[in-house]
Amino acid sequence: SPNLQKMEESSLLRRENCRAKGGAPGFKVAILGAAGGIGQPLAMLVKMNPLVSVLHLYDVVNSPGVAADVSHMDTGAVVRGFLGQPQLESALTGMDLVIIPAGVPRKPGMTRDDLFKINAGIVRTLCEGIAKCCPHAIVNLISNPVNSTVPIAAEVFKKAGTYDPKRLLGVTNLDAEVLGIDPRDVDVPVVGGHSGVTILPLLSQVKPACTFTADEINYLTDRIQNGGTEVVEAKAGAGSATLSMAYGAAKFADACLRGLRGDAGIVECSFVASQVTELPFFASKVRLGRGGAEEVFPLGPLSEYERFGLEKAKKELVESIHKGISFIRK
Ligand code: NAD
Ligand code: LMR
Repeated sequence: SPNLQKMEESSLLRRENCRAKGGAPGFKVAILGAAGGIGQPLAMLVKMNPLVSVLHLYDVVNSPGVAADVSHMDTGAVVRGFLGQPQLESALTGMDLVIIPAGVPRKPGMTRDDLFKINAGIVRTLCEGIAKCCPHAIVNLISNPVNSTVPIAAEVFKKAGTYDPKRLLGVTNLDAEVLGIDPRDVDVPVVGGHSGVTILPLLSQVKPACTFTADEINYLTDRIQNGGTEVVEAKAGAGSATLSMAYGAAKFADACLRGLRGDAGIVECSFVASQVTELPFFASKVRLGRGGAEEVFPLGPLSEYERFGLEKAKKELVESIHKGISFIRK
């Protein structure tokens, strides 16, 4: 009933205000595509983040159910569900961070670029909403092909006059268990882009420092470049990585929020507007701060193998970037 709805809304507002008075940083986060394979576990993980005071869950299906479910977790964030295009603006208004895992995933035999036809339009619509309702939010873009969807988002924001390159970040981090060391202790910078040969792990810069034979480098590079494909094949038509991705995206979002809070020394790899190479977008280490990706770090010294890989990556990347840009400019 409308009365009950009013009561619930005012109780949510009371909780929101209460948190704000308590001095908690209280960031507002929206997930677009929140009822999907990534969206649902991501919603759960973000609901557990103490930096989040409000969590908006938007999808074109099932988001009220997911929101009701997640709202029963006894953590601080107030959760609200939003269903379908008419509720997009309410979902976005006032958000500090918007995470986008909306769109179709791969099936075996597909490249990420095969998703362009469907996902490009979805990302455009969602970004038009962001430009209108929360133009200063940080955007974490997960929908594939990331190498093209980030340029699409940039063009939409440029058209709307709201583009701030520091606030648009393609999510490319992955948690791989290929090195035979405790994954928590390993840091492999992965640069370039987010598909096939554009995924360029810099094994010469692994921390803690390791030396690998040529065979090991070939093997590890291949495993890292095809990590996503391994999952697509194992799921045999039922989708791509969702749980590991939700975990990766939740960690990345947390890094963005700690940056927004003003924490020092937050560094992650991300696909961003970049002057590190001659390409307009490139993934490399970035320092996250109050303004988003405040500093984009250069690649550092590369091995000969990596320099060769970089040239291959750039050839494919330039095409994907161009495809994204012309989708909006055409
Ligand atoms: P999924 O099909 O399980 O979920 C996608 C969700 O998006 C669905 O709930 C769907 O209803 C929703 N959706 C569709 N159109 C929408 C719209 N216009 N507005 C809002 N929501 C909409 O797919 P998934 O496994 O969650 O993957 C989502 C995307 O993430 C895919 O494109 C996939 O390739 C990509 N992905 C990226 C990475 C990465 O590292 N960047 C990793 C894994 C998956
Ligand atoms: C990715 O790395 O993009 C995901 O694992 C999804 C995919 O299609 O591989």
